[in-house]
Amino acid sequence: MSTQLMQEDVMHIASHGSTAAHLAAGTVNTPAAFRAVPTGAALGAEIQGVDFSLPVPEDVKQALREAWARYLVLLFRNQDIDDHQFLAAAGVFGPPHEAASRKYHLNAGRKIDNKYMISQHPSVSIISNLDENGIPVKDNGSLGSYEVVWHTDNSYVEVPPAGSMLYALVVPANGGGDTSFNNQYLAYDELPEELKHAIEGKDQVHDSSRNSAGVLRPGVKLPTTPEEVEGPTHPLVRVHPVTGKRALYLGRRRDWPSNYIVGMSNAESEALLDRLWAHATRPGYAWTHKWRGGDFVLWDNRCCMHYRSEIDSTQPRIMHRTTIKGEAPVAPW
Ligand code: OGA
Ligand code: MN
Repeated sequence: MSTQLMQEDVMHIASHGSTAAHLAAGTVNTPAAFRAVPTGAALGAEIQGVDFSLPVPEDVKQALREAWARYLVLLFRNQDIDDHQFLAAAGVFGPPHEAASRKYHLNAGRKIDNKYMISQHPSVSIISNLDENGIPVKDNGSLGSYEVVWHTDNSYVEVPPAGSMLYALVVPANGGGDTSFNNQYLAYDELPEELKHAIEGKDQVHDSSRNSAGVLRPGVKLPTTPEEVEGPTHPLVRVHPVTGKRALYLGRRRDWPSNYIVGMSNAESEALLDRLWAHATRPGYAWTHKWRGGDFVLWDNRCCMHYRSEIDSTQPRIMHRTTIKGEAPVAPW
């Protein structure tokens, strides 16, 4: 098979034959059909009985929002949706947010292509490992096939998105590109008292220069000193606006000079960040998702981080991604 993929091919991978008959029969999109099946790990649940290609009534929307607050990451299998239905599904959880990476790509002269990189919808990003010819590659100027280190989306802007969603159109046949999520409420709760004390009242500057695969954003200069690090300042602990619970909020980690804690020496900041990161990324706080075509996954950037394993760069992987508006992080102190 040619690795050159056409949009028509990718749009039909997730077909599962949903019909209005399911809706009429009450087997989907009703409170009775709704089921949340926890992963058994520290976070995450699969939601059954919801089909985003069909209308979702208000009582089911409410059940979805409650499940999201409880499980932090929601998985929906076998969704067969277009971008409008994708955005409508995201709208259940919050208003659309324009991806922060989009302006870097457009300013650098990249064109809207609707296939490999930039969608015509400002709030839909195409997360693929394809180049402009539709060929899988290691580096496509975005996340490519790279490992994506633990991070929370867009923490390098003043008002980061509350949640992000990925919809899998094409996934590699032989693995790679698994996405893990971790529970940062639990990471905060189980932080040794001495570390809780060390971060109380502390803020961190979030470096915007590189994406989560470590690729320098188009048109941006790599910082060589902490003074050159550009990005907003957020508290190291934030209070979730819906649940009222505290979560550790680390953003992402790059080699120095990058994120740093305000009001500490460089060495102290690095040493404290090392300890916080070692704790926050403990495997016991995480759950790993292995993708199938048609999977739709929603996560909460206010209380989770996520990670993606490297993709075999001979295998195509195409996701559509959207984010929903959040609020500036609020410190508990
Ligand atoms: C993202 C991201 C991971 C993946 O889109 O924000 O981190 O699995 N993606 O592609
Ligand atoms: Mn991400």
